[in-house]
Amino acid sequence: MKLAVIGTGVLGSTIGRRWLEHGHAVTYGVRDMSAARPGLMSERAEIASIPEAVRDAVATLVAIPGSAVENLLETQAAALDGHLLLDASNDSSGGAFHHLPAFEARLPTARVYRAFNTLGWENFAQPVIDGQQADLFYAGPQTDDRQVVEQLIANVGLRPLYVGQGVAGADLLDGVTRLWFALAAGQGYGRRMAFKTLHLPLTDEPG
Ligand SMILES: NC(=O)c1ccc[n+]([C@@H]2O[C@H](COP(=O)([O-])OP(=O)(O)OC[C@H]3O[C@@H](n4cnc5c(N)ncnc54)[C@H](OP(=O)(O)O)[C@@H]3O)[C@@H](O)[C@H]2O)c1
Repeated sequence: MKLAVIGTGVLGSTIGRRWLEHGHAVTYGVRDMSAARPGLMSERAEIASIPEAVRDAVATLVAIPGSAVENLLETQAAALDGHLLLDASNDSSGGAFHHLPAFEARLPTARVYRAFNTLGWENFAQPVIDGQQADLFYAGPQTDDRQVVEQLIANVGLRPLYVGQGVAGADLLDGVTRLWFALAAGQGYGRRMAFKTLHLPLTDEPG
């Protein structure tokens, strides 16, 4: 699959590396092509402008500081609209971590999911903890795009779990992120901490 990653920081490069290892073609979309990124170049990743990276991508991960999301949406709306986006950015300046209303306003035809935002990057680099595969909660439109999103989560090595759509879904994930921080940092469990749900097999029968 052709994939794009916007953000070459620790989160974007970790997930990009996992997708590359899985055989996907990953292009990092950057705002400054002249900046040196030796780590990424050694990993068969392509680097391009954001519009070039996104153009033919089946899905694009957004992994930039939450404080930069409005700027990205303002400057790259034409490039991003209409695409399948997985937004992992968390805005810790107060209020919601997500920017879903801004995505919807600026990119009316984009299909926007929230994923990879609820756990520290270490758990994407090594998603098996003490012999158990971590779950990853995600949110977004209830459409066929979910199959692609779930495949991309599984390719990073986690088990996808859908929580819902719209702002309500994104808010639920914000709660998971807050819980992760409360346990990992506040209660001293450390960053190699993730979530695992237990349930009976899903059926089509009403509960
Ligand atoms: N680190 C984690 O464990 C983790 C886990 C879950 C979610 N997150 C969230 O994921 C996001 C990225 O985290 P990170 O730790 O990878 O951050 P980081 O290491 O600081 O990397 C940020 C990246 O964003 C790029 N960037 C900044 N402003 C931009 C803009 N206006 N347009 C395009 N690119 C821009 C930077 O590119 P330049 O090279 O051009 O400066 C840099 O590559 C954050 O929102 C964070 O809350 C992080």
